[in-house]
Amino acid sequence: MIHTKILGTGSYVPNQIVSNFDLEKLVDTNDEWIQSRTGIINRRVTRGENTSELAYKAAIKALEDAQVNAQDIDLIIVATVTGDYPFPAVAQILQRRLNCNTITAFDVNAACTGFIYALNVADKMIRSGSYHKALVIGAETLTKYTDYEDRNTCVLFADAAGAMVIGKAETPHIEKIVTYAKGDLEGLLKMEGYPLKENFKTPKQKRPFIEMQGTEVFKFATSVLPEVVNTLINETEYTMEDVSLIVAHQANKRIIDKSARVLKVPIEKMFMNIDQYGNTSAASVPLAIDEAIRHHHLKRGDVFITVAFGAGLTWGGAMIRY
Ligand code: UT7
Repeated sequence: MIHTKILGTGSYVPNQIVSNFDLEKLVDTNDEWIQSRTGIINRRVTRGENTSELAYKAAIKALEDAQVNAQDIDLIIVATVTGDYPFPAVAQILQRRLNCNTITAFDVNAACTGFIYALNVADKMIRSGSYHKALVIGAETLTKYTDYEDRNTCVLFADAAGAMVIGKAETPHIEKIVTYAKGDLEGLLKMEGYPLKENFKTPKQKRPFIEMQGTEVFKFATSVLPEVVNTLINETEYTMEDVSLIVAHQANKRIIDKSARVLKVPIEKMFMNIDQYGNTSAASVPLAIDEAIRHHHLKRGDVFITVAFGAGLTWGGAMIRY
């Protein structure tokens, strides 16, 4: 039986920091509201670097950490909803930029749950025996689709990338991954694409932006986050005591606080870096995992749960021994 494990991780955030005070100058908001309602203080906003550039920089670090050459990667999956172009995919741009061989490379769209979906697909492709080492990335430039006249959304979203190299293992490390979707809730969090033209000669169309019914998404998130954690505990041999850390999608500090209360786990078990990065969609989970490792919250052998939720609506999680 083929098992899988994390060989290395890396992440990259753009240099430009946008604070709550910067946003006070754009919309009717204030630092107190943003911090108390979301936990966000700063977020990173790209200046000139598109999604593939953020992904490339995170990938280089993950490959270095894994001590794997790009030529040894035979699968690239990028989770993103903000690719540089509708096509080619970010994964295909990366295949060229990393000088990988002629390999399988594609993007996955499951919004903020995207990285968990991408990890699930890569994990199963390696377990099939057809692939050996995969580069799995979550990368987003959400700010290009954020309306800086809408205070409901512009204080939340930001840009980042996180990467992971996974490969075969003698013993199980990536223990279980679950992914779900409920398409009938799609209207709660959405970005319209370019609509069908009224007439093929219509020259210009309105630019689409992210729209969200925040309170409804909040209720959904606080229900599925503990549910996924409990599913992973129930369907593996681990107990909550075995789990060193829960690395959740960084959408709102209050979602993580509330889930900790529901799960009856100490808040120290819930990794958080939302204060400095905001909500970076598919990049949030791999960025948080990489930071948890860099800041010694996770060491080799530790068992952790990662969990995400987002547009679709989608949700999912994984139980992993690092
Ligand atoms: O990553 C994908 C998943 N996304 C999420 O999980 C996000 C889930 N939702 C949330 O995190 C929260 O719902 C938000 C942070 C988006 C909003 O927090 P909330 O506590 O649900 O606020 P609300 O939307 O109920 O709004 C409360 C009030 C409203 O004013 P009124 O109608 O009570 O007068 C809003 O207009 O706060 C107002 N408001 C703001 N005030 C200052 C909304 N945004 C802002 C703002 N600054 N930026």
